[in-house]
Amino acid sequence: MEPILNIDNLKVSFMTSNGEVQAVRGVSFSVGKGEILGIVGESGSGKSVTSMSILHLLADTARIKEGSSIRFDGEELIGAARKRMREIRGEKISMIFQDPMSSLNPLIPVGKQVAEMLLEHHKDISGEEAKKAVLELFAKVRIPEPEKRYKCYPHEFSGGMRQRVMIAMALANKPELLIADEPTTALDVTIQDQILRQLRELEKEYGTSIIFITHDLGVVAELCDRVIVMYGGLVMEEAPIDEIFEHPSHPYTMGLLNSIPDMEQDKAVRLKPIPGSPPDMTNPPAGCPFAPRCPYARKLCGAKLPEFIRVEEGHSSRCFLLYPDAPADENNPFRREV
Ligand SMILES: Nc1ncnc2c1ncn2[C@@H]1O[C@H](COP(=O)(O)OP(=O)(O)OP(=O)(O)O)[C@@H](O)[C@H]1O
Ligand code: SF4
Ligand SMILES: [Mg+2]
Repeated sequence: MEPILNIDNLKVSFMTSNGEVQAVRGVSFSVGKGEILGIVGESGSGKSVTSMSILHLLADTARIKEGSSIRFDGEELIGAARKRMREIRGEKISMIFQDPMSSLNPLIPVGKQVAEMLLEHHKDISGEEAKKAVLELFAKVRIPEPEKRYKCYPHEFSGGMRQRVMIAMALANKPELLIADEPTTALDVTIQDQILRQLRELEKEYGTSIIFITHDLGVVAELCDRVIVMYGGLVMEEAPIDEIFEHPSHPYTMGLLNSIPDMEQDKAVRLKPIPGSPPDMTNPPAGCPFAPRCPYARKLCGAKLPEFIRVEEGHSSRCFLLYPDAPADENNPFRREV
């Protein structure tokens, strides 16, 4: 699949009073045209910092390291001029967040806010035309009674409806890439399902590529074509969606899979969180960052960072147990039958 986005060796640190927080430590992946890529990982793994880097939305204390590259449709975005980034944001790449309230202006009716988004990027359309386009968008994202809703303020909407407004705004200029950072986490399950269905429909209709960030592998299964699993500022595993569920090839991914709540069972019984907590990124471990929590860790794991190893076409993982010379004992869940 032809890529729309290529991230190569992205390294991002924050300079804080406690020292350098190495939030992202050499992340590489690409997103194909019309593809939905999931990014999963626990809190603090570097998912948001990776995605905010794309649109230059990082805090002033952030430093993108030498050698990092983010290419969108062939164009390098790192170091791109402010003016160029303003054109790209909202027109070619747009982003939706967990909390739509933080992106909406509470003092302006929602319809007007979406219309302004359109007018900002299309100087040639009239106010009337923009309004008409917004009403069509509202209908498309299934906001009932678009005419009436156009004039409402954000606080008059439910969380789910606000998120629909955000999706409408994000799609106003038919972007080539939509980055959705946990857009459904704060919503209840039914609303979440509706929003996911909507995103799938939009991807089909417009061919928009989507990066969907979530904690929840269950959501990834429903929506995504492919997934990358992040931990400690690194990509640990990358695979097509069926592969990751059928042949998870990283102990961290296996831990995440075990912690998916099974809706048919009693949640409390089935949920098995991974014991321990993620590494402190001011002083990241030299070896595999998952080593302190990994049930299969060996001595080598704490000393050296494993390379990315190809498991199958399109499926790679960063774990010593996949190395061809790894011991094939019963404590290696990936041992190959010989
Ligand atoms: N502005 C900042 N200043 C200092 N450290 C930061 C800043 N923003 C993020 N970090 C750190 O960078 C690391 C990665 O954070 P990031 O927000 O990308 O995590 P995440 O995977 O999106 O987590 P979550 O699932 O909680 O959203 C964390 O250790 C976080 O504390
Ligand atoms: S490299 Fe070692 S510690 Fe890391 S996931 Fe593999 S077995 Fe576990
Ligand atoms: Mg985040």
